[in-house]
Amino acid sequence: MVKACVPVPLSDLATSNTHGEDSPYFAGWKAYDEDPYDAATNPSGVIQMGLAENQVSFDLLERYLEQHPEATGWGCGITSFRENALFQDYHGLRSFRQAMATFMEKIRGERAEFDPERIVLTAGATAANELLTFILANPGDCLLIPTPYYPGFDRDLRWRTGVNIIPVHCDSSNGFQITPQNLEVAFAEAESNKFRVRGVVITNPSNPLGTTIRRPALEDILDFAARKNIHLISDEIYSGSVFSPDEFVSMAEIVQARGYRDCERVHIVYSLSKDLGLPGFRVGTIYSYNDRVVTTARKMSSFTLVSSQTQNMLASMLSDGEFIENYLETNRKRLKERHEYIVEGLKNAGIECLRGNAGLFCWMNLAPLLKESTREGELRLWKLILHEVKLNISPGSSCHCSEVGWFRVCFANMSHQTLEIALRRLGNFMNKMIEANKLNELIG
Ligand SMILES: Cc1ncc(COP(=O)(O)O)c(C=O)c1O
Repeated sequence: MVKACVPVPLSDLATSNTHGEDSPYFAGWKAYDEDPYDAATNPSGVIQMGLAENQVSFDLLERYLEQHPEATGWGCGITSFRENALFQDYHGLRSFRQAMATFMEKIRGERAEFDPERIVLTAGATAANELLTFILANPGDCLLIPTPYYPGFDRDLRWRTGVNIIPVHCDSSNGFQITPQNLEVAFAEAESNKFRVRGVVITNPSNPLGTTIRRPALEDILDFAARKNIHLISDEIYSGSVFSPDEFVSMAEIVQARGYRDCERVHIVYSLSKDLGLPGFRVGTIYSYNDRVVTTARKMSSFTLVSSQTQNMLASMLSDGEFIENYLETNRKRLKERHEYIVEGLKNAGIECLRGNAGLFCWMNLAPLLKESTREGELRLWKLILHEVKLNISPGSSCHCSEVGWFRVCFANMSHQTLEIALRRLGNFMNKMIEANKLNELIG
């Protein structure tokens, strides 16, 4: 039996609470894990709408693997057991870096070029973002991040690096767009806190908004970074999930159009977790225009490599031009249909959403349901929806949204039937709330 005793101390890092694990974003996942919905075995369980996972095109990937057993088999030639099992240096396989570069160009309609020598492989975008933060900032420095932002950034950019995040507050008055004015306000706030600003991190298309950033705004953001002599990280993890590809402008296009002027401050993050729906494979990249950043990131990537087996398999898949063309087109079409379906369903239930054009989620406004317009009021509503309606959605406060009442709902991690049930549950909930309000007015 283990005797209770004084705990052996752990490091400050291990015991710090900057990981953000207590936020509703992660708490909702736990609630789902304890009581997961299953049509046959647990029809009254929690439906997971808090996970930005893309399962709508899995059949295409599975068919590819069925038709190309050589991509995963040990066989002979480049995918032989020895090739996979023996030591691989941290540069990653040239064949895979080339395939990634071509794939990233294809997603951007070939309007931007990617050099495989600038591709640094990491175990997902999570590692890519943290690694970049280690390289660009010192503990105690800060990064500016427009709100609402992906809740995982608190963990990825802050926890182990000791770097601070200063939010750039955006609001619904202009569809949460980033402006030079709100960037300046955040910069001034950082200075008044005596933080040295090292960079601005944008997510384009945005998680949680499900919208792309327009070209003029991107130009403004790069001008701002140049004016302040800071870095610009553009997390483009959803770049292949824009419903109409022409509506996406990559920071790579802006840099190229400027003849690579000021490009040394620009770093693009990408991963196959969303567009290909492969978060379990842990494949991400840093694409930097800065030679010193590329060299350092490559050295640091020793801590977070992608296995040779995964690289070989994906090199084969991504190099199949016909398959990729068809995959990207079909995936976009399916995501668009899903998006239209959920937006329509929410509208019928009386819920408005921000107009989205990308991603695996929509950003809905439940502010009219709040009893009090505070963060606490929002969390009370979130708990009610989690425990009574049995839907795990993400409250805007977990994305540091400065306006209360917004929630992110994911629609691509479940079957169409499950989405239908989720919408029905929300519709019934809205009806109940409307009835309750009417009653309150009558009594009041
Ligand atoms: C904006 C953004 N960046 C990074 C990540 C992490 O992705 P990965 O699974 O590749 O680590 C996510 C995942 O949700 C994300 O939405």
